Amino acid sequence: MKVQPTKSIVGKITLPGDKSISHRAAIFSAMATGETHLENFATSADCASTLDCLRNLGVEITQENSTVFVKGVGKTGFQKPIRNLDCGNSGTTMRLMSGVLAGQNFDAVLVGDESLQKRPMKRIIEPLTQMGAKIEAENYCAPLKIYGKNPLQSIFYKLPVPSAQVKSCILLAGLNAVGKSEIQSATSRNHTELMLRYLGAEIEEKFVEAEDGFVHQVSIDGNSKLIAKDLKIPSDISSAAFFIVAAACLKNSEIILENVGLNPTRTAIVEVLQAFGASIEILNRKEVCNEIVGDLFVRGLMSFAPKTVPNIISGDVIANLIDEIPILAVFGTQIENGLKVRNAEELRVKESDRIAAVVENLRRMNGRVEEFPDGFRVGKSDLKGAVVDSFGDHRIAMAFAVAALFAEGETEIVGAECAGISFPEFFETIWSVSR
Ligand code: S3P
Repeated sequence: MKVQPTKSIVGKITLPGDKSISHRAAIFSAMATGETHLENFATSADCASTLDCLRNLGVEITQENSTVFVKGVGKTGFQKPIRNLDCGNSGTTMRLMSGVLAGQNFDAVLVGDESLQKRPMKRIIEPLTQMGAKIEAENYCAPLKIYGKNPLQSIFYKLPVPSAQVKSCILLAGLNAVGKSEIQSATSRNHTELMLRYLGAEIEEKFVEAEDGFVHQVSIDGNSKLIAKDLKIPSDISSAAFFIVAAACLKNSEIILENVGLNPTRTAIVEVLQAFGASIEILNRKEVCNEIVGDLFVRGLMSFAPKTVPNIISGDVIANLIDEIPILAVFGTQIENGLKVRNAEELRVKESDRIAAVVENLRRMNGRVEEFPDGFRVGKSDLKGAVVDSFGDHRIAMAFAVAALFAEGETEIVGAECAGISFPEFFETIWSVSR
């Protein structure tokens, strides 16, 4: 894919449904009793993997454009699959479905592509094993053979990494456990908690004091029943992030992104960009199906205040903007004192090693960048068009498409088609608003 620089970004657009929420909407409606319409379901290839796994477990699912219809089978009504369940590139599919399968009375095998087979699964294997499931996995990596058990034992578990996927996996297993399961961790996205509550589960969230300060604690009662209820899925703020950064950095830009999910565990990207001087206004804020949504109005009139804003992004906020860090690195090349990201070692075990990918591509584009084991420092840079690599990672492909808009000369992104993992319409959408 070849990308030319552009002057500004102008328009009013609605982006596809949120990937995290779509995975959950499909899985939870399959576990509910009754029928559900899911509106604005993500067009992402990852979410198609989740639908495919559910169909192979006997769930009737039909789709018309972005509306998905799911006929729930209840918490334990899945059928033993006759083939392996293919999660493709999707870590969320594999980790959430593991939680579902742990509580079924049959065994099943979850497989994934080359990248997914390298991703750490010990983080779910340990708690699910403690709950009574048996999981076979070489070196704690996929393929995973899960021998489910019903009922499971409930668990009290402190997450070693603040991962919403792991938390959700345990909560899903907890739905099929005897008694209450409790999970403690630093804050991470809470779509699972909000949606399970919306569907009638007995689930509680609170902050409790632990050795290392206040932590988030969520508990779920294994007696909970899920009752089907239609869901409207907001647009994905992680996809919006590429347009926000493009518009904020390109003079005279004016873009409205409609109906974006603004769950406070996902909006750190907006808050960080605003703190650096980006002009982002939130309009029409409302609550839909337990999630906050609103329109984002972004203008290209940044007035940076680098002396008053600490340019280090580290600590607990990292988990809340984990998917936006590649585009934040690109943003760093456009601001006076640049920025530094630390405590983000999780980026090394995403769809690619995102620290290495960002550093390598920025260097190829004449970016000033320094690599740390847990992050990087980016200085203000005059980016130059170059040949960069997606490293098979959708967020790297899209982040560098935005970098290419800021660069001098043409940029070629090798393997850009992987953008479809989260946002198949990304390139046509960015062209449609480039002026
Ligand atoms: C996700 C959680 C995050 C994120 C991923 C989606 C989710 O992963 O990076 O893209 O839907 O729960 P971790 O929970 O492993 O940090």
